[in-house]
Amino acid sequence: MSAALDVTASLYHKVKRVIPPFEWPVFADDIDAILRLKRERRAVVLAHNYQTPEIFNCVADIVGDSLALAREAIGVDADVIVLAGVHFMAETAKLLNPGKTVLIPDPAAGCSLADSITPADIRLLRQRYPGVPVVTYVNTSAAVKAESDICCTSGNARKVVESLGVPRVIMLPDEYLAQNIARETGVEIITWAGHCEVHERFTASQIRTLRRENPGVVVLAHPECPPDVVAEADFAGSTAMMSDFVDTRAPARVLLITECSMSDNVAVRHPEVEFVRPCNLCPHMKRITLPKIRTALEQMRHEVTIDPAIAGRARQAVERMLAVR
Ligand code: 13P
Ligand code: SF4
Repeated sequence: MSAALDVTASLYHKVKRVIPPFEWPVFADDIDAILRLKRERRAVVLAHNYQTPEIFNCVADIVGDSLALAREAIGVDADVIVLAGVHFMAETAKLLNPGKTVLIPDPAAGCSLADSITPADIRLLRQRYPGVPVVTYVNTSAAVKAESDICCTSGNARKVVESLGVPRVIMLPDEYLAQNIARETGVEIITWAGHCEVHERFTASQIRTLRRENPGVVVLAHPECPPDVVAEADFAGSTAMMSDFVDTRAPARVLLITECSMSDNVAVRHPEVEFVRPCNLCPHMKRITLPKIRTALEQMRHEVTIDPAIAGRARQAVERMLAVR
């Protein structure tokens, strides 16, 4: 057995249900190198729930949804943060850790929601709806956050909107999340036509067919799905809320209406649960790979920087969100 296979044997044991044995030698060498580089650089890896199982389970120090990654990024005891996720997540980590080096293994890991809106769009909306507070989804650039009053994630959108105590808010850029939250809260929400390219592809008739084909299945949907899809689900919540649902309720058969790696990562902890697996891949999340994480740590690239002219205001919007409990 090679040294790397030896060192990573216990990690393989953890993921063997979702990674076939013939694939492991391809991963073992990079995992071994990344574990060593993390010690040398005093680095931690933060990984989103949509990262592939070998990243999520074998090199990540902190995992979670966007909200957990933002919260956990604060006060992390390290010199370097590697964000295994998409660019807006790395920017949020940098906003909350201005003194630390934040690296993203592939700077092209974007997001269709973040790409759907610009700071100028928000300034125009403010002119059109004077005095109406602007709630910005964290899936946006720091420049867009800087134009908003407060951020939210799918894990706290309801609480954030309710915390404002007003009858009308602007919520950007995810139209479906905004519609889902408007229905939950009764607050009038002015929306923007941004969509997640992964979740907008699910349909209500697809869910009905899957229920017929898989009797007793419990359906959990991400709130970035269209409202008619959420209406077909038994529960809607952020990726961490879906994961907690399986942890606490242990359904015999479950269908996660979200990105493909979610089921793999939850399945690692739940061999007793049957996962029905239609899913859509996020091409941006999938840009992050073990070799790119290794190169990021070896070469200390790609460092995330934020224009100081926007960082202060963007940080304020994120910190206001984190203060809502
Ligand atoms: P969560 O905050 O629920 O993890 O969602 C992030 C995301 O990008 C979902 O598509
Ligand atoms: Fe963006 Fe959708 Fe990918 Fe999440 S899954 S990063 S919202 S494109």
